[in-house]
Order: sequence, then structure tokens, then C-alpha cells
Amino acid sequence: MDKNWKFHLGNSADPAQDFNYGIANLFAKTKKTSQTPIDESFNDTGWKTVQLPHDWAVHLPITFSQNEDQLSHGYRPVGGLYPQNSIGWYRKKFLVPAKDSGQQFSLTFDGIYRDSKVWINGIYLGSNFSGYLGQSYDITDFLYFNKANTITVRVDATQFEGWFYEGAGINRHVWLNKTQNIHVDPQNYYAHAKVEKTSSLISLEVPVLNGGNKVKTGIRIISELRTRDGKVVARSHPAEIDTLPAKTVHQVKQQLEISHPKLWDLDHPYLYRIVTRVMVNGKLVDQYFIRFGVRDIHITADRGVLLNGKPVKIKGTNIHQDHAGVGTALPDALQYYRIQLLKAVGSNAIRTSHGAPAPEFLDACDSLGMLIVDEQRLLNSGLEYKGQFERLIKRDRNHPSIFLWSIGNEEGDIQKSSIGKRVAQDLLAVQNKLDPYRIATYAADLGNVYHGVNEVMAVRGFNYRVDYVHAYHKAHPEQAVLGTEMGSTVMTRGIYNTDSVRGYVIDQDSVYPWWAGTAEHWWQLCADEPWMMGGFVWTGFDYRGEPTPFKWPNVNSHFGMMDLCGFPKNVYYYYKSVWSDAPVLHIGQQWNRKGQEGKLVNVWVYGNAPEVELLLNGKSLGRKLMPKYGHLEWNVPYAAGILKAVGYLGQQKITDSIVTTGPATKIGIQSNVDHLNANGKDIAVINLTALDISGRAVPDANDRLLFSLAGDGRILGFGNGDPSDHDPETSVNNKGSRRLFNGHAQIILQAGNSASSLELKITLNGHTQLYRIPQID
Ligand code: GAL
Repeated sequence: MDKNWKFHLGNSADPAQDFNYGIANLFAKTKKTSQTPIDESFNDTGWKTVQLPHDWAVHLPITFSQNEDQLSHGYRPVGGLYPQNSIGWYRKKFLVPAKDSGQQFSLTFDGIYRDSKVWINGIYLGSNFSGYLGQSYDITDFLYFNKANTITVRVDATQFEGWFYEGAGINRHVWLNKTQNIHVDPQNYYAHAKVEKTSSLISLEVPVLNGGNKVKTGIRIISELRTRDGKVVARSHPAEIDTLPAKTVHQVKQQLEISHPKLWDLDHPYLYRIVTRVMVNGKLVDQYFIRFGVRDIHITADRGVLLNGKPVKIKGTNIHQDHAGVGTALPDALQYYRIQLLKAVGSNAIRTSHGAPAPEFLDACDSLGMLIVDEQRLLNSGLEYKGQFERLIKRDRNHPSIFLWSIGNEEGDIQKSSIGKRVAQDLLAVQNKLDPYRIATYAADLGNVYHGVNEVMAVRGFNYRVDYVHAYHKAHPEQAVLGTEMGSTVMTRGIYNTDSVRGYVIDQDSVYPWWAGTAEHWWQLCADEPWMMGGFVWTGFDYRGEPTPFKWPNVNSHFGMMDLCGFPKNVYYYYKSVWSDAPVLHIGQQWNRKGQEGKLVNVWVYGNAPEVELLLNGKSLGRKLMPKYGHLEWNVPYAAGILKAVGYLGQQKITDSIVTTGPATKIGIQSNVDHLNANGKDIAVINLTALDISGRAVPDANDRLLFSLAGDGRILGFGNGDPSDHDPETSVNNKGSRRLFNGHAQIILQAGNSASSLELKITLNGHTQLYRIPQID
């Protein structure tokens, strides 16, 4: 249900600009003509047509406000001070054929930021406070057949849930689900695999629901384990439900036994399918399936994470749902793209800071082999948040990628108090009931402090304060220790002079806020301690908001090992050198320094070759031994030409060079895919690199690009990773313009629905290039 929604901003301070919401007395009667968008007859022809996922905050005509209260949210004019930008109305019409009457229907919103209310055909369905967790509504009673049904959603982004950019709107998928009266209830379906030496026993809890008005008899349920290509490798005993009264649920327990299963792990994330079939008097009425990984996860206080019995050091990152050009409205393929970038660094884990991720994000982690800490938005055991935690666990517990729950993050004084301890105990009880096979952590910004939440956690989470980790472990050897937020240097990609006016920080692992530290510092302290589970870098990618240490004009954070587009900063290569098995050698500098001849340039080199030599224009500047988990530095008097590093890795030599280039004259165009699927959803991430006349990448090019797209598709958004760039990120009629930032920019294309080509035209300094990408059915 992502296609063709109507959208209009409302107003939280003025009912007249909010389509009379607030004065229309909407809840006094079930259905009442109110002249609001809730009415089916409301005329929305003047509203904008939008596709989901949608984040209106990145599309506002005036994109930024310099008000410092908005700093942590990226200076976007959304929230209580901007009533005209903080309410969004969505409407959509859809038809259900008459032949479908008598079936069960529900609407699932995977996520709306935030505080949403939903109506169908003028009838109120309910509300969802959370901006992260989705909600399903049973709409069976309210549907018309062969006549348009109208969904209305009012979204209220006046309050924030976080302290970073969170977007605004229906920023995840919407689904219309249709089943027979007797069907499996997906929200309460639970699968768990117990892994033995040569076999695995999968236990299933299958809730079978009779949504109809008649008692049903003769219900039979069979579950199967199938391989990816559909071969049945295990079948449960059939379960019989003799009588299922109307509007009731019956919980069936089943087992599947498989010998020599293919285990899910990080390199071979094999996914089986569990299929549950429901028959009534021999006739198939429902077939529910999940993708399922058979794996064993065990977390120990002395050896960290054991995945299928083998220790796995957590080499993780924290990420927000936020990307250049699209804000929080990430197409599924972009989720995959970002996770693939993280895998390429050698990262094996992600913490979903600070709330429920999109379901497709978890699907991507299951498929690609990433371990996940799935985090509850708030440490709170009150009705709302305990309910959210229950929904989170039920929604996500069948994902093999999830290895740990998190009950919250940095709750000020509460975390060190007996209140915090009681809240944590309450949430842990929820987790133990709904998912007894996993355990939980809590991300504490506390050093060697035990009192409070930490007392009751199986896994002690450290946000920063890594110098206390050893002492804490000594004092509490019974607890596993995990770095929930580690490192956190601030770096702007391709910048070599910190510039407080424009808000840029040197692209070097050296500047960090008082609570944080460098990448090398935390990794050196943790890498070789078997009891230390590992940690999650703050962060994998830059995100909007939290422009530490600067303020306006700086609007995005600089914490990422990659920028908001996913272009690597220098520290990316540090992590790659210590996390991956690939040979790495990287010079963290650029060599276009006209006018600085003879001046010393500080050159950092990362790599995993034990010995490295640096040469300027063929002349050796010396060979040095690479310190363990460290980097090398040279101070080189600048002379234009080639600065080359040679790494000696046994018999093998690896090299990296940086060169003095001419100005940018053309663009290197690289797509992450060689074609698009013509399904209206697929995307191509087009990465642009400035090149000089000889085809060399120009690392300091900041020229403006003009671009346009022809064909059945659209420019979804664009960016350049510059944390202080305020230009629009979206196109008008498939035309756009953006500066390069230190040699790069990115355009995200989205497929149309026809098998045809898309043609992207890019103009740099009067020179136009064409790029074609085919779309196939
Ligand atoms: C942590 C917090 C993160 C982020 C980070 C910035 O305290 O958990 O969400 O704000 O600091 O350094």
C-alpha cells in the first residue's frame, strides 16, 4: 500500500489550517460529517501525491531554521516551535472486490513518525504513540466492497522521541493483509531452534485465530521446514483443533527436527523457510511462512559471544535510520546497500540506536549475516513503554540476526537509582517471558558504577568510558561486558584543516568530545581481551543532527566512519585494517596543496602490513613498523607529485598512492547495480567522483553539478556528505543540482514500472555526460 498517497501539512496551533481537526468533535459519535480529511467525501485533489516511505521533513520548502533549540535535530523546522510543519495528513483510497467479502482484513503500518491516528471510511481505528514501532489494525468490520475505501492518517511530529534527526511522516511500508477467517496470527508466532551437535529441534508456537462469526471444527495444522529452494526437510506432527469458537485464538505447539542442519552464521547466513499450513476439513485456508536461521547463540562472561560454539568478537556500529537525499524514508534496497558497506569494513554487528528498526532492515541483516542488538526506545516500565517492549520482542524474535535485546540507553540519574533497577527488572521479566532464549543489555553512560540498572543486567553495556572497563570487569567478573557506544571521533570526510566557521573537523582519528575517545584507543583496550564482547562504534554513518562539536552552519553529525552518503572517511580504513582479513593500506591525506610547497604535511597511514615505506616522487621517506592496532605517521615536506605507500606483507607488496591532480573536468559515475528491477521500488545508488583530465580522482573538488533524469523512474534524492551543506536534497521534475564535496556526490535513482532505460544527464563546468541504466521486468 505504498503507492500514491495524498499528503498535506496541517497545523498543530491553528485548527483552521489543520482542516478543522481540534474543533470538529470527532470522537463523540462513530461516524459524523465533520468536513475534515477523515470524511470519505473530503476533497483532497489539491493535495500532493507521495509515495511511501515518505519523510516530509527533508522536503520542506524552507529546510532549515537557525534556532539553536533545533540543533540536535539538525536545525530542521519541525517540532513544537513550528506548528505549521509538524502535522501531516495522509489519505489513500483503495478498492476491495466483492468476491473477497467474508474474509479478514488488516492494515499494517510498519512505522510512522510519530503519534499517529488512523481512520478508515470515517471510522477511528486507533492510535500509535511510537515513532518507531508499527501497528496493525483489523479493518474487517469497516470495509466496503466494490466501492472505494478511504484511509486517513494524522501524524503529529510536534514532540520528539530522540535527540537526533528523526524525520516526520509515514516513513516505512504500509500493508493490506487479507486472510480467510481461520488463519495464523503473525504477531504471536514464535520459532526457536535448539542446536545440538548433529541436529536441531525447532519449537514453534503457532497461534491459530478464528476471526469469523461461526464456530469452526476440523482444523489441522502442519508445519514444515523447507530449504531455500523449497525442499521439505522436516515436517511436524499434525496438530488438530476440534473446535475453535468464533473470535478466539488457540495456541498450538509444534516441533520440527532436522539432522545436520545448515547453520546460520556471519559468512553463510543460510535461511530456511518455516511454513505453517492450516487446513479446515482438508482444505488449505492459510499458509504462513517465515525465513528462519538455525543457529546457537550463547553469551558468556569470560569468552564473549559464542555463535555456534565459536567465539565472535563484536565489531559493531551504531546506526540511525537516516541517509542522504531521503532522510528517514529508506527504500529497502538502501538498507541492504548500507549493511553491505558495513560488512565490507569487516563489521559484523549493528546496534539499532535508539529504537525499533524497520522490519526490512532486520530481513537484510538476516540475509547478509549481521548480528543485531535490538533496542527498546526508552528505559521505562510504564504501560506505554512496557507495551512497546512487548511489541518489539514479539515482532522481532524470529530473526536469527538478533543476538541481544537492549532495554534502553543513558537514562540520566534513573539508571543509577533503585528506580532504574526496578524498571529494568520489570522489562527483563517481559523479555524472559516472551523470549527466554536471549538476554539483554542496557547502554549505560557510566564508568565503574554497578548500583542501579547495571546490577541486574547479564550484559553490562558501556557507552564510552572505556578506561573503566577493565576495573569493572575485575569487580564483576560474572557479567559479560559490551561496548554499546565506543570510539566516536568527529571527522569530516576529506578535510585536513579544522574549520570552525564552516563546521568541519579534520578527517583524522584525533578529535573527540569529552565523553568519547579515539578508534585506536578503544580497540587497543578491547581487542585482545577474551572477556570483552567487543563493541559498537558511535557511529557507522554520519546522521542529521548532533553536529558536535560545532553549531550552525553545521547541521549533521561527524561521528560516522562513513559520511551521510556512505563515502568512507580515513578511519574507515583503520577499522578495515583491524577488523577484516583483506589486505589494507591507506594514506589518509590528499596531495593537492598548491602554495604549500616545502611545508610539512602530517600524513597518517593505516594498514595491516607489518612494515610500511613511504615514498615521495620515488624517494623513500623511510620504512616503519606498523604498531599493533595503530597507525603510522610521517611529516612530509610538500612537493607536488605522487606520495606512495608500500606495505610489506610477507612476500606480498601492497600499495596506495595519493597524487597531485588538475581541476575536475569530468565525473566518474559508478552505480551499485547494473540494472534496476522495474517494480517502482528498486533503487540504484549512483556514486559520483570528480576526475581530472587524466582520469585521476580530484579529492578537493567542490564544483557544482547539474543533473536530470529521463525515462520511467525518478531521482529520489541526492547528497554529498557535507555536514554543512544546506542545499535541497530532492529534485524538482527529475532535475537537481548539488555541489561535489571533496570530490564526491551521490544520486539515488528509483525505478519506474516499465522495462526501459533510465538516462541520467550530469553537467560539470559546461561538460555534459550521459549515464544509462536498464530496467528489467
Ligand atoms: C550518546 C548517545 C547517542 C549520541 C551520542 C553523541 O550519549 O547515546 O545517542 O547522542 O552520545 O555523542
